[in-house]
Amino acid sequence: MSVAAERRLGMIADLVIEHATLVTVAGGTGPLRGARQADLGVVPDGAVAVADGRIAAVGPRAAVLRALSGVPAAVFDAGGRVVLPGFVDAHTHPVWAGSRAEELEQRIAGATYVEIMAGGGGIGSTVRATRAASETRLLADLLGRLDRLLAFGVTTVEAKTGYGLSTEEELRHLALLAEADRRHPVRIVPTFLGAHAVPDGFRGRPDAYVDLVVDEMLPAVATAWPGVFCDVFCDDGAFTLAQAERILRRAAALGLGLKAHADEFANLGCTALAAGLGATSVDHLVATTAEDVAVLAARGSVAVLLPGTTFGLGSTRFAPARAMVASGVPVALGTDLNPGTCPSESMPLMLALATRYLRLSTAEAIVAATRNAAYASGRGEMAGRLEPGFAADVIVIDGDDYRDLAYRFGGNPVVRVMVGGRWVAGDGVPNAERRAS
Ligand code: NIG
Ligand code: FE
Repeated sequence: MSVAAERRLGMIADLVIEHATLVTVAGGTGPLRGARQADLGVVPDGAVAVADGRIAAVGPRAAVLRALSGVPAAVFDAGGRVVLPGFVDAHTHPVWAGSRAEELEQRIAGATYVEIMAGGGGIGSTVRATRAASETRLLADLLGRLDRLLAFGVTTVEAKTGYGLSTEEELRHLALLAEADRRHPVRIVPTFLGAHAVPDGFRGRPDAYVDLVVDEMLPAVATAWPGVFCDVFCDDGAFTLAQAERILRRAAALGLGLKAHADEFANLGCTALAAGLGATSVDHLVATTAEDVAVLAARGSVAVLLPGTTFGLGSTRFAPARAMVASGVPVALGTDLNPGTCPSESMPLMLALATRYLRLSTAEAIVAATRNAAYASGRGEMAGRLEPGFAADVIVIDGDDYRDLAYRFGGNPVVRVMVGGRWVAGDGVPNAERRAS
């Protein structure tokens, strides 16, 4: 082939990452389930070419370099380190003010989460602190949390409201998430969680609050933020199955995507309800039965497991993840970042917990934290894998063995983070790219 023809056919890359131990999580369609939940698609001595913020080519280094036309503007030598898609955190509650450190002390002394909530603490106390906080304070706290998520390798985050619990406050929190999305490199997938708790003013009248959610909040949310997800906390002390059904059905009728907090403490039947209504994900899934697992498998909802919450509560009752994988339920992971049960921004810590307590292999946990979490967040066709056409959201790990992501814990193994083809966090960013010589 002539040089001219090669140039016409070849691609022009903005940046190439080379000499990487690639974990691509690529190939096929949909979330990975069953035996494929462990399908990492490792490429030794691989390369990734990036153009216009997307992945242009990925594979063995020699093949990627051959496909290039000319010298890329920048080359990053990964030096054999592991390079993988940025983590997708499939479940967070990052819009809040204040601290609930005292509740940890109360739980140590024997109180349960549901007791603390019933006594006016819990979500209710964060709602009061959040409503009292200024816009500036809330945005600054939210951006700080996004900074920490990014430093731990999260490039896409599902982010819920749920500490406003009035139409005005909930809309304000959705607007804050949109503002943070504009200002911060982490990609935000917003979720309306107006049914997080029954707020002060509706105590003893939960159905009146559900009326407000269904008749006023959901239509207002669907008008202002069409297509966002709607979530509901269905549990003891939160919303009943019948209330959750009213909310999810109305959300679906308004064109919103569905999610649910199901079986975190008690099994009220919400897993079958949400999966039956076509929920994109069903989350927590601790008090979940074998029958529920079968429904999830049949309906195809992604199971978002949150081992940091179980740990944060000091509980030993973890979700039945092995049964889910065995039944072909696609399993995803999230931090559940929130002030009550899991004040942590660390997906690497979630991998460490998921291996020990959910008994996922490290490979299964990585798929859960990337590709499957992207599907759980409605972004499965653009994030969560290293594949041509997908967003160039990439992280570099300190080490050449992907198992280090779960084997080591308590620190941060992520040394560099790229979003949309730009290095945005980690060692030496933004000026450390090695120029092509
Ligand atoms: O996912 N379960 C409901 N929401 C959070 C806790 C929120 C809070 O306690 O503030 C959770 O665990
Ligand atoms: Fe949650």
